[in-house]
Amino acid sequence: MSASTVRLIGRLIRSRHSERVPFEPERPLAEDDVRAILEAARWAPTAHNMQNFEIIVVDDRATLDAIGRVRSGTSEDFIRENYAQLSFSEEELIRKGTGLLATMFPPSWRHPGGQPGEPTDFEHGFLDATMRSCPVVMIVVYDTRTRAPASEGDVLGLMSLGCVMQNMWLTAEAIGIGMQIMSVFSARAVEEELRTILSIPDHLAIAFACRLGYPSIAPGRYLRVRREIERFTHRNTFAGIADDHAVAMTDL
Ligand SMILES: Cc1cc2nc3c(=O)[nH]c(=O)nc-3n(C[C@H](O)[C@H](O)[C@H](O)COP(=O)(O)O)c2cc1C
Repeated sequence: MSASTVRLIGRLIRSRHSERVPFEPERPLAEDDVRAILEAARWAPTAHNMQNFEIIVVDDRATLDAIGRVRSGTSEDFIRENYAQLSFSEEELIRKGTGLLATMFPPSWRHPGGQPGEPTDFEHGFLDATMRSCPVVMIVVYDTRTRAPASEGDVLGLMSLGCVMQNMWLTAEAIGIGMQIMSVFSARAVEEELRTILSIPDHLAIAFACRLGYPSIAPGRYLRVRREIERFTHRNTFAGIADDHAVAMTDL
């Protein structure tokens, strides 16, 4: 593989990002592009080559609207654990090198004066705004009755589903299609409603879902941070001092 291909792959990996702005609802994905994303999923590495996934492609407006009517309450666990990951200034985020900026979340999810674990407010929304501004959702499901051989908690199976996600995401990015993971689809109450709407059998669980489309507005400034290699790499032994100061940052 040539050096320029390696650089190209590196650029694609770095430019892949979460596209959280509304998409153009009336601009469908070309069928070839949908297939390219599915083809990428198809070739994902999976433990034991188990290929432990099925993908539901939802592009029918009535079905997207039905999903939009699903209530998507925010759990106390989410609020508490989300809070623990937040930074309240860009400087803090850059220093930490992990997590997200609090301003990405509704005010009631990011009260800096509150104590972690003592959220004051809960948001109980619906998925309608998200679904209205989105031409396609892909829902990746897996069979909970099986597991990768001898894999406790099917950790290896779940890792495999992450590989599927990344293949799809890189391909969408390469084609110029925005993608956002929607973890709310896997929340128990939401999943139950989707089960009915999409006729998902009981033995299948939602691994992840993503919305795909073309941004209808320019993305706002989005500070993306990553730790420097030295902060997470340990040569030959875990003992030793990691360089805790180095922070890589990329601005989109
Ligand atoms: C398993 C998983 C679940 C995620 N869930 C959500 C989600 O529900 N909503 C969202 O906007 N982003 C979600 N993300 C995206 C991450 O927040 C994002 O990848 C991370 O902050 C890095 O930002 P980037 O994707 O722009 O590089 C998820 C990512 C992964 C891998």
